[in-house]
Amino acid sequence: MADGHSKPVLGIIGGSGVYEIDGLTNTRWETVESPFGATSDQLLFGELDGQPLVFLPRHGRGHPRPPSDLNYRANIDALKRAGVTEILSVSAVGSLKEELAPGTFVIVDQFIDRTFARQKSFFGTGCVAHVSMAHPVCGRLGDACAAALTEAGIPYARGGTYLVMEGPQFSTKAESELYRQWGCDVIGMTNMPEAKLAREAEMCYATVAMVTDYDCWHPDHDAVTVDAVIKVLLENADKARSLVKTVAPKLRDRAAPCDKGCHTALEHALITAPTA
Ligand code: ADE
Repeated sequence: MADGHSKPVLGIIGGSGVYEIDGLTNTRWETVESPFGATSDQLLFGELDGQPLVFLPRHGRGHPRPPSDLNYRANIDALKRAGVTEILSVSAVGSLKEELAPGTFVIVDQFIDRTFARQKSFFGTGCVAHVSMAHPVCGRLGDACAAALTEAGIPYARGGTYLVMEGPQFSTKAESELYRQWGCDVIGMTNMPEAKLAREAEMCYATVAMVTDYDCWHPDHDAVTVDAVIKVLLENADKARSLVKTVAPKLRDRAAPCDKGCHTALEHALITAPTA
């Protein structure tokens, strides 16, 4: 746990376009070992306007790893070991709402986790913990993202529910309609168990979701294809870089940990009696 006086270190989990940023200095790619196994890639350490940053390409450079094969525990653990206090997840998603057109950014505040083939906890037999996920994202980091998006002139929606599916196939139309009935706003394949693990690691976590498509429910749009997703992602890459560039200095002068309690998530979560 952070000591209450240290400075924030921003971790970014995202695609390759996100970390190719002008002004990023003192850069170095480094392997960070984790007892949970290999991370998706090396971590890129750097500094932006005096704010320390650590990037992790979620799927590895060149995108070799599918969502179900990511070692989410190693990724979050390595970021923690690298000193990261706040994780900004920049992620491509499909839209489940008419008003969230491709190109829109959404600062997500809730998740529905429909994944089923992933390791989702650092805890287990011998040490059992149940952290609260009622409010799965850090409001302070979300506020910084909102301020940065406003300043950078990037249209965004604040708040929204992200349905996390297992993939790698996209949804059927019946699934897409069901998630719309549940009130979900966007759909993607990666932010769980990231958010759960970040909470267990007592780190701030926020998602800026970039809408790339209308999934398959929309009567006026074709079913989603990888080509369509990549086309919008490339169009959005500049905006994602501007977000990172603008948000980094907003963290620089404030304290870590945040005032929302992300750093004390385990305080009332451990159920196993301490051993003598
Ligand atoms: N990522 C981008 N678009 C998506 C979609 N429609 N479904 C799941 N993941 C996505």
